[in-house]
Amino acid sequence: MKKIAVIGTGYVGLVSGTCFAESGNNVICCDVDDNKITQLSKGEMPIYEPGLEELVMKNTRENRLAFTTNIPQAISQADIVYIAVGTPMAVTGEADLMYVRQAAKTIGQNLNGYKIIVTKSTVPVGTGKLISAIIREQTKIPFDIVSNPEFLREGRAIEDSMNMERAVIGTASSKAFELIAELHKPFTSKIVKTTVETAELIKYAANAFLSTKISFINDIANICERVDADVTKVSEAIGLDSRIGGQFLQAGAGFGGSCFPKDTAALLHIAKDAGYDFKLIQAVMETNETQRLLMVEKLTSALGTLKGKTIAVLGLAFKPGTDDVRSSPALDIIPQLVDRGANVMAYDPVAIEEAKRRLGYKCTYTDDIYQAIEGTNACLILTDWEEVKQIDLAKVKGISRQPVIVDGRNLFEIEAMRQLGFTYLSVGRPAVHNKSIISKAI
Ligand code: UDX
Repeated sequence: MKKIAVIGTGYVGLVSGTCFAESGNNVICCDVDDNKITQLSKGEMPIYEPGLEELVMKNTRENRLAFTTNIPQAISQADIVYIAVGTPMAVTGEADLMYVRQAAKTIGQNLNGYKIIVTKSTVPVGTGKLISAIIREQTKIPFDIVSNPEFLREGRAIEDSMNMERAVIGTASSKAFELIAELHKPFTSKIVKTTVETAELIKYAANAFLSTKISFINDIANICERVDADVTKVSEAIGLDSRIGGQFLQAGAGFGGSCFPKDTAALLHIAKDAGYDFKLIQAVMETNETQRLLMVEKLTSALGTLKGKTIAVLGLAFKPGTDDVRSSPALDIIPQLVDRGANVMAYDPVAIEEAKRRLGYKCTYTDDIYQAIEGTNACLILTDWEEVKQIDLAKVKGISRQPVIVDGRNLFEIEAMRQLGFTYLSVGRPAVHNKSIISKAI
């Protein structure tokens, strides 16, 4: 059993801390946010993540997990201190290290014996050295620095943390490596041992590579539309080549979330700072931006104009299984629709509150999918929620003013949509037109 303090109770900190507790360690999760800690102490989760609440409650009850705002005390009682604070994107696209610096300073001020300081936050290459320097300014007590990046996906965070495909442990200290490797034994047998700098870069390389796969297939999808090809078949066929792999080849409205957009932009900066022009990643980001706007163009082409039209936007979260709307396609697309004169009825099963906070007045919200669709001129699918996949299409046709669906997640069969009489525009697949739509619309 190890004594672990986790600074930062966001996605990464809360999930990792809980999983370390579940594997038998004594964990204290801390945060400067009073409200969050009070909420967590009462067993209320600040985020929506399947399975998290049960696991937090269980480990709190069994006295392996606690929450506090007293960060100095948590540090002084721990053998291992995890830094899992946010690294938001600065206006320049770089990662903002304000919270990391703050955490490092607090650690330095409260070091009362040898400890291992581990970064879980996604931080630019060189941050390990920076943390080390900040701590050293405060104390002469020895410590070791480890970079142990996190690869968990939102919506599957517990599953990913309990069964990691690999753990990356970057450190110059063999003692620290052994201890952190032991901590990961219950979760994985595959450990990549490396330096701090390499570990820091691995996280960015992983996310940038996955983002590249998505933008690549979206570009292929756009070509498919021009040459009457079907991107889902292209994905299936190239994905069967084990050198390529079938995952992250779903064409759609583009990637969102708290990691891919932020980490690709940050990697571009890291490259620039290192004197390298990373053209490929720049193109990946550009493709992702234009991909979102293509959804607006498709709606416009289906309806003739968006002015005065009511659009049901199905899905606000950046992907299913989460209430996270950070960098979600919906957040970019809805203001565009409104700017072009459309009224938006926004549906999401869990992300309405988060979306409201960011979009405010721009649309009407509902968590009833049929209520969202009733009387609208078109549906725009942006998140592949099960509720959207299972929708009764005949009912949709019956209650909407016009049978138009622009599908940014390729959820339905082309032939079925043709037979039902929809105008159905998806991504990288043949368009289905109900010829009466535009003439009626204009
Ligand atoms: C991602 C990484 O997967 C994870 O390893 C890292 O730690 C954090 O970033 P997450 O942001 O939770 O996780 O979402 P993920 O499931 O990877 O999806 C990211 C985005 O890509 C979503 O918007 C999703 O809709 C989109 N996507 C994914 C596609 O458009 N096509 C695909 O084939 C796969």
